[in-house]
Amino acid sequence: MRELAEVRGVDPDKYTIGIGQDKMAVPMMQEDIIAMAANACDKILDEDDKKVIDQIIFATESGVDYSKAAAVYIHELLGIQPYAKAYEMKQACYSATAAIMNACDYVRLRPSRKILVIASDISRYGLKTGGEPTQGAGAIAILISANPSILAIDMDSVSLTRNDFDFWRPDHHPYPLVEGKYSTELYLSMFNQVMAEAERQMPEVLSELQAMVFHTPFTRMGYKALTAYQANESTLLNSSLKDKLVDNWLHIYNDSVVLNRKVGNVYTASLYLSLISLFLYSEELKADERIGLFSYGSGAVAELITGTIQPKYLNAINKEHVQTHLERRTKLSISEYEELFDRVLPDVDNYSLVEEKSSGFGFYLESVQQYRRHYQFRTNDNDNQPIR
Ligand code: CAA
Repeated sequence: MRELAEVRGVDPDKYTIGIGQDKMAVPMMQEDIIAMAANACDKILDEDDKKVIDQIIFATESGVDYSKAAAVYIHELLGIQPYAKAYEMKQACYSATAAIMNACDYVRLRPSRKILVIASDISRYGLKTGGEPTQGAGAIAILISANPSILAIDMDSVSLTRNDFDFWRPDHHPYPLVEGKYSTELYLSMFNQVMAEAERQMPEVLSELQAMVFHTPFTRMGYKALTAYQANESTLLNSSLKDKLVDNWLHIYNDSVVLNRKVGNVYTASLYLSLISLFLYSEELKADERIGLFSYGSGAVAELITGTIQPKYLNAINKEHVQTHLERRTKLSISEYEELFDRVLPDVDNYSLVEEKSSGFGFYLESVQQYRRHYQFRTNDNDNQPIR
């Protein structure tokens, strides 16, 4: 990000301190939202899970087809049992949270079944735009079950919808339309309104929360939300208790954005990348403690959900895997990044091999034929295997 700032004629501290981003993930063309999602799922599912998954819900705002859901590809690539249903959900960066809450209700009624929720996005604003330093790409896979190993999500939550225009992407627009400054104001306003309602509806739960993780379009955003909430004097909580609570959240905040600093905005997946970051990098959290998650999707829908950390939560998230995965990335020069950015899949009916190779192993977009995407799996850089 510092090199990008220099090329753009901006003080690098603006990107790394003012916006709070050190690196930005740039996907190769083989790494579309489906390939990234399939690789995320592959890391968390075992054969027993695949037999009891009833739904695959793919949350994204960078879908590749108006009609066919990306979840349908995942169903085949991961070998999920045939009688599962697969579909896509959209509401900017919020939809993964809707998917998770619906999935929790489903497994509460059917405790032997599971639901696979995927958040996968490529965040793009365009070269030399105001949003450029807040781009990124990635996918998170989340398995929802009645016996969670990481976080037990509470049934009650506070959600809020306001029809507004801070960030939206009408049909045929390659990039979103963004009111950058207004989007941060709307985010803060929605966070404050949701918190005020949470103070009214669930003050005891709120005052128990040991940490608050955020949808993180850039890492300063959550920090801004916490300080704005703290400065808001109108509160139903005891004001010294509120101060102490938010001080605790601020104290732990940096741990929750270690990964987001290195990846950038991942739209629907950003909140859950931040959650993984909190679990992997905070040394203060303990099992049985409660945390809050603030989900925000422009346009706009927000929801505050809460959950209890499970006893063996660290066994279920492999820190080494996450770090190795990020370390496998290779650095692009600014000119390579710019050249790659402008490339799109050829809009032709005939066979087209996707040549810009991803750097690692796993699923990748191999070709497009008659507008149909085909994926392959490789175990190392030189090996192309048929799909398992
Ligand atoms: N050293 C340190 N800090 C510096 C600095 C320097 N040399 N120069 C500037 N800064 C600080 C500024 O003071 C500012 O801090 P504050 O916000 O605390 O005042 C910060 O860096 C950013 O500076 P600007 O406001 O001038 O930056 P900008 O006009 O270039 O816009 C942005 C920043 C609005 C985030 C823009 O990148 C953008 O539009 N991004 C896309 C939209 C977005 O992410 N919105 C977030 C809410 S919407 C959402 O959450 C949904 C979603 O995922 C998109």
